[in-house]
Amino acid sequence: MIRKPTSRVRPDLPQGVLSQREALEKLDRLTEEACLGGGAQRIEKQHQQGKLTARERITLLCDEGSFEEIDAFVSHNATEFGMADKKYLGDGVVTGVGRVFGRPVYVFAQDFTVFGGSLGERYGQKIVKIMDQAMKNGCPIIGFNDSGGARIQEGVASLGAYADIFLRNTMASGVIPQISAIMGPCAGGAVYSPAITDFVFMVEGASHMFVTGPNVIKAVTHEEISMDGLGGAAVHSETSGVAHFTHPTEPESIVAVKKLLSFLPQNNLEPPPFIEPDDDPEREDERLDRVVPDNPEKPYNMLDVIETVVDDGDFFEVQRNYAQNIIVGFARLGGHPVGIVAQQPAVLAGCLDIASSLKGARFVRFCDAFNVPIVTFEDVPGFLPGVNQEHGGIIKHGAKLLYAYCEATVPKLCVITRKAYGGAYCVMSSKHIRSDVNFAWPTAEIAVMGAEGAVNILYAKQLEAAADPAAERKRLVAEYRERFGNPYDAAARGYIDAVIKPRETRRKLIRALEVCKHKRDVNPPRKHGNIPL
Ligand code: HXC
Repeated sequence: MIRKPTSRVRPDLPQGVLSQREALEKLDRLTEEACLGGGAQRIEKQHQQGKLTARERITLLCDEGSFEEIDAFVSHNATEFGMADKKYLGDGVVTGVGRVFGRPVYVFAQDFTVFGGSLGERYGQKIVKIMDQAMKNGCPIIGFNDSGGARIQEGVASLGAYADIFLRNTMASGVIPQISAIMGPCAGGAVYSPAITDFVFMVEGASHMFVTGPNVIKAVTHEEISMDGLGGAAVHSETSGVAHFTHPTEPESIVAVKKLLSFLPQNNLEPPPFIEPDDDPEREDERLDRVVPDNPEKPYNMLDVIETVVDDGDFFEVQRNYAQNIIVGFARLGGHPVGIVAQQPAVLAGCLDIASSLKGARFVRFCDAFNVPIVTFEDVPGFLPGVNQEHGGIIKHGAKLLYAYCEATVPKLCVITRKAYGGAYCVMSSKHIRSDVNFAWPTAEIAVMGAEGAVNILYAKQLEAAADPAAERKRLVAEYRERFGNPYDAAARGYIDAVIKPRETRRKLIRALEVCKHKRDVNPPRKHGNIPL
């Protein structure tokens, strides 16, 4: 709470004028007051709940001593509900600019100790100010969310402030990276700011996101559910796909925010940051020659492939717990950041379904917006069959992934490790949709569909008439496999640039990346495309 200044008049100075020493003391006093937010008691309560304060979060995020606060002395202008007497310096949000690994980032951190971190007009203006600066200066923006939502006492001014932020989130989309770290409640319309940003981090047990809370839901639909069950970290990272990362504690979450930033450029006009690699770009690994099982129906773990190929085995997976039949994340190849999209044959045989299409499409579009080359590891038997999938709109959702790959102009590299069947072959970075370099392992099967399905359709009558249908089927399946269950038909047409030994994958990708890194490609001028939302 803002304290009344103690007046002390120096007889040798005009009335109201402070000496230099007094002026400095006043600045120290006000700064100390601003740093206390809602006061020691509320900070203590925050700590008792296992949460950090807004300033502690910023300290963990930014390089030591690098954070420069902006608007520390802003306070609200509300008068209703006795608000004129309840003012706090900073008004419940800490804003400013700091550095992460030496590069500038703008940060806002909602301070739950002041009116529950609720957002009013001046508070909103503080966030808008740094969003505008982040855009002008081409820097990422990170927001720590911990708030009861719209400040009820400020009424529509608070709603307007939210809308001002939503507009800027939208304008900044694809221009500067936007990261939301949800460290406490984030409810009501307030969720739509994080939802528009590129990546959402949540903390187990502490973070909650929902449009309408458990009480409203109980009143309207009579469903009973806890805060965690409705909008906790597990729900949003496994079921809804709203969150991209979840961690047990705040410090772990903040370390991950920093790691994410290490792969990203400052803005859409810069390349992502190159780091001189320790890992030999020419390194071969013969374990890759044995990854794909001899039996094409058997699964394997595509993460083993990715981690063997990328620099130092360091793969930073995004949305690890959601739609696990597709893998997306960041890594480096020869020191260059890349976005990796891969099927996971160990989950749903790596089929594309609604959730995996959405996950893949959003990631591909992020990479394209921020000049991050896309490397695809493909083993896909097709789109997942099922009434639920069809009725749920797999047509329009699958189309999003196709659209995202088609419109992407960043370098696109593809390695087909095993299956590339049907429409999924076209979607997953095929040559036909402007992929730059396409490799296949000798185990690749590039065909309209798998052998069993194809034989059923092509030879239905022949099988019916056969004296021994089982033996005939076996013979036909083997014949089909021989003809189509390999990469050489596609290679003969130039749809595959080279069939490579698995052990050579790292070297081949890095060499291709070096060649493509200055690639220039553009889409036709238009206001914007009409992605099938
Ligand atoms: C003003 C608020 C507030 C709010 C909390 N506080 N939310 N003040 N406006 N929205 C105040 C409380 O009065 C309290 O003040 C202090 O913050 C801490 O709150 P507690 O309830 O004591 O904390 P806790 O028990 O941890 O519960 C946190 C909470 C709860 C779950 C967030 O406070 C809550 O449900 N708040 C209301 C949430 C909400 O319905 N917001 C509006 C959503 S609609 P004192 O002085 O007692 O310490 C919305 C629209 C946005 O946001 C639209 C954008 C388009």
